Amino acid sequence: MYALASDSWDQEEITAINRVIASGQYTLGKEVSSFEDAFSSFLGKSHSVMTNSGSSANLVATFALRYSECFKFNENRNVVLVPAVSWSTTYFPLHQAGYKIRFLDVNLLTHNLSLEAVIKNYDETVCGICFVSLLGNTKGLEKIKGFCEENSLWLMEDNCESFGAQTQTGKLAGSVGDISTHSFFFSHHLQTMEGGMATTNNTELAMIARSMRAHGWTRDKKSGDLSKFEKNSFKSSFEFVYPGFCVRPIEFMGAVGKAQLSKWDGMLSARQKNASLFKSILKQFSNFIDIQDADIDRSSWFGFSMILKNKAYNHRDKLLNILDKFDIQVRPIVTGNFTNQPVMQFLNAEVSPNLVNSDIIENQGLFVGNDCTDLNQELASLERAIGTFIRDL
Ligand SMILES: Cc1ncc(COP(=O)(O)O)c(C=O)c1O
Repeated sequence: MYALASDSWDQEEITAINRVIASGQYTLGKEVSSFEDAFSSFLGKSHSVMTNSGSSANLVATFALRYSECFKFNENRNVVLVPAVSWSTTYFPLHQAGYKIRFLDVNLLTHNLSLEAVIKNYDETVCGICFVSLLGNTKGLEKIKGFCEENSLWLMEDNCESFGAQTQTGKLAGSVGDISTHSFFFSHHLQTMEGGMATTNNTELAMIARSMRAHGWTRDKKSGDLSKFEKNSFKSSFEFVYPGFCVRPIEFMGAVGKAQLSKWDGMLSARQKNASLFKSILKQFSNFIDIQDADIDRSSWFGFSMILKNKAYNHRDKLLNILDKFDIQVRPIVTGNFTNQPVMQFLNAEVSPNLVNSDIIENQGLFVGNDCTDLNQELASLERAIGTFIRDL
């Protein structure tokens, strides 16, 4: 079977888990802290705050922006520009924190927000942009960072799909925004199975994110001290300063995260090797199928997206049937055009009238997996399956 994802654990992760058990310390502690430090060093950032998922990282990052003094919330300037193709929990925290979400079209081939769409949909009600590097691809990120700087907007990077990728000028994905988020879910690049991280250079954002992560209190002083009762340790141990959540990770996640991070170079090159093969196979079908516009050696290749065109347009069901017969797992490209989801009725949102590319991604797009194993055989089977599909058109 060609699976959408596979697990990358070996003895190192088991040893890490056993170390936690032997220590008797299971909740947030030194293993998580040590992984946070290693993660900050990897990205060249000052602060990392681990959470129990990428969605929770989005939650604490968004609320950190919301309550910060440096990006002061203003009811009259509360619109955030987002791509119409992303995961549900890119959007929900923005809504929950009181922002208005403005959905923009993405570039068909990079799958990312484009500067053109941002310029077209920008006005003085906009306070920030959430850029999502889709499926390992950062294309467009740096241009949008430039736009944010020119217009005094904050930039959040939802980097849950692009750990380890590089921008066009060689910066690491997740190191560009004012705050960035990462997911360590099973199918993602680093696997703590559930887990996430918010990363920033901004000490205020980091302090608030730490507080929001654990009940809104002031106990976690790693990124600075929020306590108003500094001299009264009895009171300050139960002092609450933000309306927080409890989205703490446990020590197993930190220990395993560190083991995973130490293996990252090898995992990335395996993903890129698979990508190179995928690209060379798909070249022969380029009259019928577009693939993501991403560089072999810059993308971290979360997976492989395909968009049907020309004679293959509108024949996705036929291809899905054939892929099923070849035992190849397949899924939509993230969620397609998210503005078509029923949940939209509950969101404080504006939808750009022109989401043509997002609709094509939804209706003509599909996605097969990549991971850090050698996918030679799986990709050969994909080649045969697509060959059968094209011959039958
Ligand atoms: C872009 C994006 N953001 C956020 C998330 C949420 O991450 P998690 O599954 O760890 O909550 C995902 C998950 O796939 C994602 O793709």
